[in-house]
Amino acid sequence: MNFRSDNEAPIDQHILQAIIDANQGSEESYGYDRYSEQFTEQCQALFETWCEVLPLATGTAANSIAMTLSCPPYGAILCHEDAHLNRDECGAPEFFTGGAKLIPMPGEHGKIDLDNLDEFLAGTGVHGEHESLPCTISITQCTESGTVYTLQELKRLKAIKEKYGLALHMDGARFANALVTLDCSPAEMTWQSGIDMLSFGATKNGAMMAEALLIFNTAYIREIKRLRKRSGHLISKMRFISAQLVRYLEDDLWLKLAKKANQQARLFTQETSQLVECLHPVEANEVFCRLPVVLIEQLKQQGFEFHVWPGHNDVIRLVFSHATRERDTKGLIAAIEAHQFRVNQQSTG
Ligand SMILES: Cc1ncc(COP(=O)(O)O)c(C=O)c1O
Repeated sequence: MNFRSDNEAPIDQHILQAIIDANQGSEESYGYDRYSEQFTEQCQALFETWCEVLPLATGTAANSIAMTLSCPPYGAILCHEDAHLNRDECGAPEFFTGGAKLIPMPGEHGKIDLDNLDEFLAGTGVHGEHESLPCTISITQCTESGTVYTLQELKRLKAIKEKYGLALHMDGARFANALVTLDCSPAEMTWQSGIDMLSFGATKNGAMMAEALLIFNTAYIREIKRLRKRSGHLISKMRFISAQLVRYLEDDLWLKLAKKANQQARLFTQETSQLVECLHPVEANEVFCRLPVVLIEQLKQQGFEFHVWPGHNDVIRLVFSHATRERDTKGLIAAIEAHQFRVNQQSTG
C-alpha cells in the first residue's frame, strides 16, 4: 500500500509491452531510430507546432539542459523555493550552466508569487555588472505542493517574461496530471502561454526512465544535441526510451494514466474532508495533510507507506499513481475513519 511516490510505481503494462515489441532486430543507435523519429512527429502534432524533441533518461537532465540553453554562467534562474531544480537536483542546474545563480522565490502552495516576481525583477539591474543577469523563469507544473498553475496564472507569467525579456521553462515531471486537471490542450498549457522549454515527464506516470525535453522557441535550440551528449544522456539504445514515449502518447494512454492517479487523490480528499486537514489545495495526484502523530504511527504499522514531511512530524505526503488500487485508497480512508471513531468513543465514553 504505497503512497510514498509515483516514482515507486511499476511500469504500465502497455509501456512494458512496447519495450518488448521494440526488441526486434537492430535499429539505428543514438536517437536515429524510427521510434525517436515517430515521437518527434507525435509531439509536433500533439502540441500543434514545430518543436525540437530530445528523449532523455531523467528529469534532472531535462531541467539542467533547459537551463543551459537559456541561461549563461553569469545569468540567474528564478524558480520557486521548493522547486525540484532548487531543492532536489544537487546543484545540477548550476553545474550544467557553468555557475548560473538560482534565485529561489517565495509563494503559497508551491506557486511563485507573481506580484512578488514582477516586483523583484523590476528591482534588478541596479548593481549593474555586479549582479547576475535574470535570464530564465522556471515553474513546475504540477508544483511540488501538488497544485496546478491556472491558465490565467500562466498568462500573467507570460506577460512578466515578455516584460523582462526572459525565457520561461516548465518542469513538467507531472505534466499529464496537470493537463487533465486544467482540461485544456497541451498547446494552451505550454507555448501559447509563453513556455519556451518543457521538461516532459513520463516516468512518474507509467514509463521507465523516459522523459523528454521539448523546445518550442528556436532561440533556445543551439547545440542542443551536443549538450545532451555532454550530459551523458545520448543513450545508445535510445529506441527503448522512445518506444515507451511513443506508446505513452498513443490512444491517450498518458491522459488515462494521469486521470487514474488524480481520481484516487480526489477520492481520498473527498472521503476524508471532515477528518483530515490538507495543507495545499489538492489539484492533481499529491496530498499533503496534517494528521495526529499517533495516527501516523498506526497507519505505518498497518502497512501504509508514505513520507512524513521533513521538519513536520504531523504532516504526511501521499502520492497517488496510475497504479494505485482503489481498494488501497479505500483502506487508507477506512483506517483514518476507524481512528476517528475510536477518538470519538473515548471522548463520549
Ligand atoms: C518536480 C520534479 N521535477 C523533476 C523530477 C525529475 O527527477 P529525476 O531526475 O529523478 O528523474 C522530479 C522527480 O521526482 C520531480 O518531482
